[in-house]
Amino acid sequence: MTLSPSSLLGSNREKPCVQQVFGISGTGKTVFLCETIRQAARSTDFGPKHRFVIFDVKHEGYETLAPPKSSTSEALKKIDKEKVLVIHPEMDTALQELNDLINFLFDSAKFDKEFSATLILEESSTFIGSTVGSIPPTVKRFATQGRSLGLSLLLVNQRALSNKWTDTQSSSITCFRLARPDAKMLNDRWGLDAEQMDDKLSEKKFSFSHFDLETLSLSYYDPIQIPEVRRPIVEKKKRRSITSIFKNPFI
Ligand SMILES: Nc1ncnc2c1ncn2[C@@H]1O[C@H](COP(=O)(O)OP(=O)(O)OP(=O)(O)O)[C@@H](O)[C@H]1O
Ligand SMILES: [Mg+2]
Repeated sequence: MTLSPSSLLGSNREKPCVQQVFGISGTGKTVFLCETIRQAARSTDFGPKHRFVIFDVKHEGYETLAPPKSSTSEALKKIDKEKVLVIHPEMDTALQELNDLINFLFDSAKFDKEFSATLILEESSTFIGSTVGSIPPTVKRFATQGRSLGLSLLLVNQRALSNKWTDTQSSSITCFRLARPDAKMLNDRWGLDAEQMDDKLSEKKFSFSHFDLETLSLSYYDPIQIPEVRRPIVEKKKRRSITSIFKNPFI
């Protein structure tokens, strides 16, 4: 299957609901995801009640989609109207906010059959460690029960996650340039010749590959084209400034 906004961000009731995105810093993950979400948000492949939620502890890279919200509760106030929500949580409350967000998405999907959502968890190693026990129960619930409710989860990381449990729940990995030690791990886990793959990715800056974990097929992609105008999905509210009530005397 070729990679498309709906295959990457949509839910598929026949596949595990997690997909993973890896690549060292600055290799183009966020740009790729940001533009893929922009396309998806305008596509009819996603219903009017689909929401794209980016939970980003790094606070960078998705601002051209929607004005970031400082917490889950701020974001949820707008979920009725806004198709894309970018959340910039504080680190010390991030886990609780993630739990609240996932619980909300679950409850909404159960309550309204037309509601569906894609959660993009940036730097997910902040929350997910290397053992089965080191995954928040809400994330586990999302990964195991989400697909029947139209929920899907994208885990984004600079290093390949080394958690066997998330592997069992994942249907694909999208790879940008890798850290070399990760190449060996990907080989051990999935038989992927990741060193050869990384050599190929090194030929073209910001290119990436997609590995389907069910069919074990590997495809390479050219760098995403950044549009000249990165039109937001959610416009920033213009605040009437106090000075705007005064007329400019020279026009
Ligand atoms: N497809 C592309 N075409 C042109 N420039 C790109 C492309 N992808 C990324 N860049 C440039 O590289 C910079 C870093 O990319 P990006 O923020 O996507 O990296 P990242 O993999 O998300 O890094 P980090 O792990 O640090 O978040 C971007 O700000 C942009 O200037
Ligand atoms: Mg990034």
